[in-house]
Amino acid sequence: MKVLFVASEVSPFAKTGGLGDVSAALPRALRGRGHDVRVVMPMFPRVLEKGRTFELVIAKATLKLGPNEVHFSVHSCPLPGTDVPVYFVKCGALFDRANVYTQDPDEHLRFAVLSHAALVIAQRLGFAPDIVHANDWQTALLPLLLKTVYSWDRLFEKTRSILTIHNIGHQGTFDASVIPQIGLGADAHRLHQEQLQEGRINFLLTGILYANAITTVSPTYAREIQRPEHGVGLDRFLRERSDVLFGILNGIEEGEWSPATDVHLPVRYSADSLEGKEACKRELLRAARLPYAEHVPLIGIVSRLVWQKGFDLCSAVLPRLFANKAVQLLVLGTGEPKYEALFSDLGRAFPKQVVHRAGFSEPLAHLVEAGSDFFLMPSRYEPCGLNQMYSLAYGTPPIVHKTGGLADTVSHYDPRRNRGNGFVFEHFDEGGLTFGLASALSAWGTGRGADRAAMQELRRRGMAQRFGWDERVADYETVYRKVAPHVARA
Ligand code: ADP
Ligand code: GLC
Repeated sequence: MKVLFVASEVSPFAKTGGLGDVSAALPRALRGRGHDVRVVMPMFPRVLEKGRTFELVIAKATLKLGPNEVHFSVHSCPLPGTDVPVYFVKCGALFDRANVYTQDPDEHLRFAVLSHAALVIAQRLGFAPDIVHANDWQTALLPLLLKTVYSWDRLFEKTRSILTIHNIGHQGTFDASVIPQIGLGADAHRLHQEQLQEGRINFLLTGILYANAITTVSPTYAREIQRPEHGVGLDRFLRERSDVLFGILNGIEEGEWSPATDVHLPVRYSADSLEGKEACKRELLRAARLPYAEHVPLIGIVSRLVWQKGFDLCSAVLPRLFANKAVQLLVLGTGEPKYEALFSDLGRAFPKQVVHRAGFSEPLAHLVEAGSDFFLMPSRYEPCGLNQMYSLAYGTPPIVHKTGGLADTVSHYDPRRNRGNGFVFEHFDEGGLTFGLASALSAWGTGRGADRAAMQELRRRGMAQRFGWDERVADYETVYRKVAPHVARA
């Protein structure tokens, strides 16, 4: 199959969260199955930072989007470890910004241009995709563009579109006055009428209405977003399209996230040699300037510090925990000032127990996964979540709220039956988080003798699970074939 995969971030070129990971891993896995995959993303300044070399693919292209003329060029570089070309849309006026996502008044234009540019690249290269795979609101205009502005081109005659929802909390909602700028011309009437009457345009809704199929990143989240509690206003549209809505769990890149081969760890380890994990804990605490004690459990967090991730619960629960128990916490994450302040304040009040590291560090993220005894994700909602799967692979049982992909990957530890791979709380409230933490600390026990042996067994159970992309990619192929029947016949 020929697949044009379009995303706002692709690791290692640009990554702010799990979308970046998945936008690299899925194309890589599809290529592994023999498909002709091409990836399109913006040329952000950070893409150039690492001394990569690029090939010029298109020297100059121009888009006329209502009142604006937008010029861009296209440069390519293979996705590391593959021969998959990544086409970078270079448009300084739109993408030369410090951040991938902005609050700037032209945010709609930045990503409308990405979607148009992806189809222009296909046209210029004569690449006739069977599937155009869009991801999140930033590229959710693609399904409608294929059915309108670009439908005249026979190149796209057989092209079908897939929209993957990684996070319904971000929809790309803008004032209707921007509509002339997104390049739909006379087809703007195909935007959702109710929205237009309310004076808004919603990119993600547009994708939901026009994609040939919609996927989201876990089976539980696929059910959740069809209900008002989690649909963020789009549940009724998703219910209407439930026959073409599929939940496919994300995978993890085992080449990158495996403690036996991880280049970021001081000592590598596996289920049979967990001593290496203890060495990682020592190194992590040394780097964090926290005292090391074998019998004191260390909880790790690596996260965007935003509302979605549920840290509001922490302000009530954690101070009591640190005042009463010998427990340590290491937080790697940046985001909203109030959460950064919460963890910094905890660090000041409990200097031997808590450290907050702001910033984005891939090596430190790996070390936190390896060196922590537990991994905390109290997310309010979590479409899939990758960190809990990384932590399972690293023998670091996750403590999670039962939602979305966390519910699909983590099961509550039952010491009597010796089942479960982590700690799961059902109610998103202080009692829930307290229960989750208490269960983990009770499993830890004294941290010695029989308690320690039971913990090791729990770690090994998580490490034995497989979360690789091999099976997931087959699920995506199934969806591709469903929407593009001419491919199924080939
Ligand atoms: P989300 O996409 O909602 O942020 P995921 O769990 O799917 O959540 O993915 C988060 C990804 O971002 C993981 O690969 C995680 O390791 C990474 N990450 C988040 N914050 C940081 C950080 N401060 N430093 C390094 N990696 C981070
Ligand atoms: C989003 C979600 C996260 C998911 C990631 C990749 O950022 O918040 O749960 O794992 O996308 O699909």
